[in-house]
Amino acid sequence: MQPELLHFAHRFDAVSGSAIREIFKVIAQPGMISFAGGNPSLAALPDQQVSDLAVKVLAENGKAILQYGATEGYPAFVESLHSYASDMLGGPVPAVLPVTGSTQAMDLLCKAFIDPGDVILVENPSFLGNLQCMKLYQANIIPVESDDEGLLISDLEQKVLEHHPKMLYTIPTFQNPTGRTLSLLRRKEIAALAARYHFIVAEDDPYRDLRYWGESLPTIKSFDQEGWVVFLGSFSKIISPGMRVGFIAGDPTIIRKCTVGKQSTDLHTANLTQAIVDQFLRQNLLPDHIRQICDDYRSKLSAMMGHLESFPAGVRFTRPEGGLFIWVELPEELDALKLLQQAIAGKVAYVPGTHFFVNGGHSNTLRLNFSNSTLEQIDTGMAILRELVAAAL
Ligand SMILES: Cc1ncc(COP(=O)(O)O)c(C=O)c1O
Repeated sequence: MQPELLHFAHRFDAVSGSAIREIFKVIAQPGMISFAGGNPSLAALPDQQVSDLAVKVLAENGKAILQYGATEGYPAFVESLHSYASDMLGGPVPAVLPVTGSTQAMDLLCKAFIDPGDVILVENPSFLGNLQCMKLYQANIIPVESDDEGLLISDLEQKVLEHHPKMLYTIPTFQNPTGRTLSLLRRKEIAALAARYHFIVAEDDPYRDLRYWGESLPTIKSFDQEGWVVFLGSFSKIISPGMRVGFIAGDPTIIRKCTVGKQSTDLHTANLTQAIVDQFLRQNLLPDHIRQICDDYRSKLSAMMGHLESFPAGVRFTRPEGGLFIWVELPEELDALKLLQQAIAGKVAYVPGTHFFVNGGHSNTLRLNFSNSTLEQIDTGMAILRELVAAAL
C-alpha cells in the first residue's frame, strides 16, 4: 500500500512525533552519556519493594485485581489517594481520579474542554509531551512570557483579555524544561485570575516532591476557592514511570467528565499498579524513599551546576532547587542543534531547547538532565560539553 493513499485525520497535521523520542534512539548506543530524557536513576526505582507489594496485594485481593475494575479507580487506592491529595493540596479535595500517568490527565482534560481552535495558554518553553497532546486536540497554543519566578502575571492577564483562553497549562515547580519555580505570590495571582476570567488552570506538578533545597511552596490549587484549578499529579518520578500511575484532583463535575472520557480511552488504569501505589501510601513508604532519591539527585545537581560554573563566559544556566533539569543558554551565536551532532560523536547527549518552544527558535538553548547519570558520567560528560562549547566560540 502506498502511504500517500492513507488519509490521516487533520488533528495530526501539526504533529510530527516527539523529538526526544528520536534522541532516545541515539542514547541507546553503547557508551553514551545521556543528559537527555527525564528518567529517574535506576537506583531510584524500588524494584524489590514493588515486587514484595505485588505479592502481598495479589495474595490478599488477587481475583479483584485481575478482574476488570471501575473507571473511577481501584477502591482502596481512591481512598488513600484522597487523603494523599488532600495533604498535598492543603485541604479536602472534592474529587480524585487515578489515571494512567499524568500524561493521560492532560489528554482527558483536553478531551473534556478543547474544541479545535480553542486557546490554551502555556509557559514558553514547556513540556513537549503535553504540547503534542494540545496539538492533537487542535488547540490554538499561545505562549506566555516567564522570568526566573515563572509566568509573568502582566503578560498572562493581557493574553487572557486578548485570547479568552479555555485553559492555562502550567508546571509550577521545577518546570520542565527550565527547572524554574513559580513564586508564592504568582501562585495566588493565577488562582485569582482564573476565578475572575473563568478559565481552567491545569496545574501539572510531577516534580514537587523532588526538592533538594529550600521550602516547599503551596500549590496553585490551594488558593482556588471556586474549582477553576485542576491538579495533575504523578507517581512516575517518585516511585516508577513504568507503573503508569498518576491522578487528577479537582472539581467533581470536571472529574466526572474526565471519567467518562477515560471510559473509551483505557476503561481504567491497571488495578495492580494502583494497588501497589496504594500500599506505598498506606504503609507510609514514600517519605523515606523520597529522602533517599533526593539525597542522590541533590549531589548530582550540585555536581552539574559546579561544572557549568566553569563553562566559558556568556553561558547562562538556571539554578533549580529540585526537579530533574537545568536549562542552559549558550551565547547567541551558538546553535545547540548543531552542537548536538558533535556531542553525540563525543558520546554525550542532551535535548536542544528549540524543541520545547511553541514556535521553535531559541536555537542557543538546551536542557540537561542529571538524575539518570552517575557522578562520574556527569564529570566526564560535562567536561566534553565544556570543550565543545569553548571550541565553538
Ligand atoms: C511536566 C511533566 N508532566 C507530565 C509528565 C509525564 O508524567 P507521567 O509519567 O505521569 O505521564 C512529565 C514527564 O516527564 C513531565 O515532565
